[in-house]
Amino acid sequence: MKILVIGAGNMGLAYAEGISKSKLLKKKNIMVLDNSDEKLEELYKISHFDTFKKLEDCVPKADIIFVAVKPHHAEELFKKIHPMVTSDQIIISIMAGVTLDAIKEFSAAKKVIRAMPNLPAKVGLGLTSYVASSEVSRIELLTVENLLNTTGKSILVSNESLIDASTGISGSGPAYVFYFMHSMLEAGLEMGFSKNESRVLVSQTFKGAIELFNQSDLSPNSWMEKVASKGGTTRAALDSMDDNNVNELIKEAAFAAFTRAIELGKENEYA
Ligand SMILES: NC(=O)c1ccc[n+]([C@@H]2O[C@H](COP(=O)([O-])OP(=O)(O)OC[C@H]3O[C@@H](n4cnc5c(N)ncnc54)[C@H](OP(=O)(O)O)[C@@H]3O)[C@@H](O)[C@H]2O)c1
Repeated sequence: MKILVIGAGNMGLAYAEGISKSKLLKKKNIMVLDNSDEKLEELYKISHFDTFKKLEDCVPKADIIFVAVKPHHAEELFKKIHPMVTSDQIIISIMAGVTLDAIKEFSAAKKVIRAMPNLPAKVGLGLTSYVASSEVSRIELLTVENLLNTTGKSILVSNESLIDASTGISGSGPAYVFYFMHSMLEAGLEMGFSKNESRVLVSQTFKGAIELFNQSDLSPNSWMEKVASKGGTTRAALDSMDDNNVNELIKEAAFAAFTRAIELGKENEYA
């Protein structure tokens, strides 16, 4: 099996490297295409992926094509690959807001996966939600799942609208965590810690809390109850968050990302 990654940016390379490290495929079976000569030369030097500049040299050889360009480059790219794509090839698009129907219509592919990854894919801890067109077989879905899981975990969703919803939770979610971290870092500085000390305090606290959560069946609420005793310091902090409606504000932010994902989808309808 040969895969082609179109777009050697943040996400395209996260998949190419994830797949390569997993040993699912030999490097010579991972093709990468980008429109920048410099990027491709650099990439060949450091990774020895088979690199390409012209679509006609690699699209016909690929069994699975990852499309990892920005959504506004999709139309131009699909127009170019349209005459080369066959009904056996699988297209996995990670472009935000570009729908299964649009990909099928503009690329001529029948077997299409629309996936929504997130940035921790770069360090093997990503979450990719994905949905498939009905033409993708169960066995092909397993192959797709194995490829996606090389960058972390994946969730196959039954309904395409859940891809936009996952943008609001996991896709944009790392930034919400950074937001929370930033506030705690600032509080640390204001309390008198140095930048480095504050960084360690915050990052180890997040890491530890996630690990506790992952190693138990407890909900976040149960953990909060466990650590916040009446009249104590943690209770004071949680009460302050409740008084300020932080829970509702975070949900509102997630829905704002969900709504924006739907809007972007409409802006990217080429028809
Ligand atoms: N970054 C994230 O956290 C994230 C999360 C979820 C989904 N996504 C999706 O992932 C996709 C890629 O995002 P990214 O952050 O990896 O973008 P990126 O770093 O800008 O990478 C895109 C790459 O594709 C190249 N490119 C553009 N048009 C091309 C074409 N026609 N043929 C070949 N290469 C082409 C770009 O080159 P130039 O720079 O020269 O244009 C660039 O190297 C986007 O559609 C985005 O919606 C990203």
